[in-house]
Amino acid sequence: MNDRLAGIRQEILSGIEQHAESRAAAFELRKQFLDSKTGKIGRMMKEMKNIAPEERAVFGKSINELKEWAQQKFSELDERLKAKELERRYESEKIDVTMPAQCVETGNLHPVTQIRNQLMDIFVGMGFEVAQTREIEKDYYNFEALNIPKDHPARDMQDTFYLSPEFLLATQTSAAQIHTMEKKKPPIKIVAAPGKVFRSDDDATHSPMFHQMEGLVVDERITLCDLKGMLELFAKKIFGEETTTRLRPSYFPFTEPSVEVDVSCFSCGGKGCRLCKGTGWIELLGAGIVNRKVLENCGIDPDRYSGLAFGIGLDRAAMLKYGVNNVKLLFESDLRVLRQINDN
Ligand code: DAH
Repeated sequence: MNDRLAGIRQEILSGIEQHAESRAAAFELRKQFLDSKTGKIGRMMKEMKNIAPEERAVFGKSINELKEWAQQKFSELDERLKAKELERRYESEKIDVTMPAQCVETGNLHPVTQIRNQLMDIFVGMGFEVAQTREIEKDYYNFEALNIPKDHPARDMQDTFYLSPEFLLATQTSAAQIHTMEKKKPPIKIVAAPGKVFRSDDDATHSPMFHQMEGLVVDERITLCDLKGMLELFAKKIFGEETTTRLRPSYFPFTEPSVEVDVSCFSCGGKGCRLCKGTGWIELLGAGIVNRKVLENCGIDPDRYSGLAFGIGLDRAAMLKYGVNNVKLLFESDLRVLRQINDN
């Protein structure tokens, strides 16, 4: 009898040594001995009734001791395996706090959107309201009301995509002037966006789709001086404090007089370089005093009110500011280009 108990004890010891690599295996091993119905110790307990009554007490005591010993062994084993498992987990989930962090890439706005936002901020800061431009216009708004009648040579300057005799893809944002003046009476002070316009024109500096921003101020006694002062302030804000502007005479049917506004070259400071083609000046926008006929077309009395208007090419401004030499680079969605221009 004592041999049997010693045998089981030995079995348990070698079992623990050989098989118990995981807690699951240890649990199975424990069951082989300690399960009350099928376990070896459990079964011996059941044999009690076959033992002679005078031996029963000794037998029972020995079995109980074995049972307690086995329970003790198995719970020690379980503790050991638990600690080992935890250690293994810590090892596999180890975090190296000295590793460089993985960058979360965030997108940035398109260069033309960045420029547009900057311009809008500047003009809104000067008290301008923001109006909407349209991509599809009537011939009347895009040309006719802007003093560009059907046979006017100025129509040739803007190769137009016609959708029908009446409708076309906007070739300029100036139509926003008419829409605004039809709805609102002076004082008017608006910039119009988002400014998508289209012309049948395609080379390194021209894209068939490009962007403009239109500005219009109408009030009593608005003069070219207001235009010059305002654009000078604007140029300094966008290209730097040292920037100056000059006005050159030009021609647009909807303004009289009309000017082209140049800014001093912000790359060479006016000395002459490749960007300004040696002239020291960079052409930035068209502007002028709103033609009396345009005011009349919108029911505004040209003897009482006058206005100034300007139109800025946003793609051109973005190309100048960010040193992009081909307008196509702005629209090819090449991430290598777009990533470099983050000016928010
Ligand atoms: N619409 C003209 C163009 O696309 C730009 C322009 C010139 C706008 C003079 C104006 C302006 O408002 O006064 O070439």
